[in-house]
Amino acid sequence: MRQVEAAVIGTGWCGGMRAETLTKSALVDKLHICEIRPDRLEEMRALTNPASATLDYHDIVSNPAIEVVYISTTPEPTHYPIARDCLKAGKHVLLEKPIAMDLSEADDLINISREMGVKFTIGYSQRFNPKIAYARKSVAEGKLGKVVNVMVSRHLSRSLGARIANRVKLSPAAMESTHDLDFVFWLLAPAKPVKVYSQGAYGYMKELNGSYDCMWNTVTMDDGTLVVIGGGWNLPPSYPNYCATWIEITGTEGSLILDDTQRDNWLNTMEGGTRFPMSTMPGEHVDHMYAGQMGPETLHFLESVLLDRPPLVAPEHARMVMESYLAADISAEIGEPVSLPLSNHALATLADIKAAE
Ligand SMILES: NC(=O)c1ccc[n+]([C@@H]2O[C@H](COP(=O)([O-])OP(=O)(O)OC[C@H]3O[C@@H](n4cnc5c(N)ncnc54)[C@H](O)[C@@H]3O)[C@@H](O)[C@H]2O)c1
Repeated sequence: MRQVEAAVIGTGWCGGMRAETLTKSALVDKLHICEIRPDRLEEMRALTNPASATLDYHDIVSNPAIEVVYISTTPEPTHYPIARDCLKAGKHVLLEKPIAMDLSEADDLINISREMGVKFTIGYSQRFNPKIAYARKSVAEGKLGKVVNVMVSRHLSRSLGARIANRVKLSPAAMESTHDLDFVFWLLAPAKPVKVYSQGAYGYMKELNGSYDCMWNTVTMDDGTLVVIGGGWNLPPSYPNYCATWIEITGTEGSLILDDTQRDNWLNTMEGGTRFPMSTMPGEHVDHMYAGQMGPETLHFLESVLLDRPPLVAPEHARMVMESYLAADISAEIGEPVSLPLSNHALATLADIKAAE
């Protein structure tokens, strides 16, 4: 069995879980880690016993033995330069969402990956949620007939929301509903989004970084399917789980309701009160098990490289998702629907919004 040398750049929360998954895998010959926080690098060195550990990602880029790189850095503007350098060096790359900060950067990464003939994917981990995989299978098998409407309502706890939104001003549509836009477009393919109407509401987050607490996005697909996706991050810190999602899919021949509110594992202690463990979006290691989606997603990308199969998430799809949440940001700001693909006028409006920020 062929093995690969793999690296993780940025070993915080998600990168830490990816590195831990990789170090346990028989498909990995050697693991390399990179992290700019020396204390975290040492912590991860102790946990994963890597072949090398560095503070400078250029050491990963210049090591020809490393074939596969997972990029899990924050703040999000680090994604583009690090991914660009890795792809140019001929590495296969899994990059956490968002693919980039603007569409031209996303295009650049996609073009480089094509030129270099390497695999490039984005970490849309919800595709590895069994409930969402089941939805895809049900739609593909025609169980629901022609899909008429999809509704997703996703809410994070405030503690997680503040952590995400504090890094850089990105909207709930860009940071949270991005997962739902991704999997709903995947369910409905080959239909494509043609119009987005979005509204946002301010709450406690406004003072923190100027973001909405909650955004609801209505997306019209080119076959007429109606998609409504809401995302918020203001559940009180005492709310006992991290992420609660409710999904309704209706079609001409049936409907599928998915309760992903993650209230099914209930821990109550004198110290911490009520918690719902294993309720974050990426999931977590539980001793010998991985409870959630990021572990299987990490291994799927390794297998895609070793078996030369396309990864589940194409970067072109991630770009379409990006264009849709940018349309949502514009629409929420101007209070009008925005057509896709984005016109030059819409792009200019977006540039004005960013400049004003
Ligand atoms: N798929 C999911 O479900 C999911 C969930 C949460 C976050 N994410 C995405 O994953 C990414 C990481 O999020 P996180 O919560 O793990 O963030 P984090 O802040 O916990 O970790 C990021 C790490 O990157 C390190 N870093 C920054 N610049 C670096 C550089 N140049 N070289 C090496 N290391 C560097 C930071 O020191 C930090 O430890 C984000 O882009 C986020 O959008 C995805």
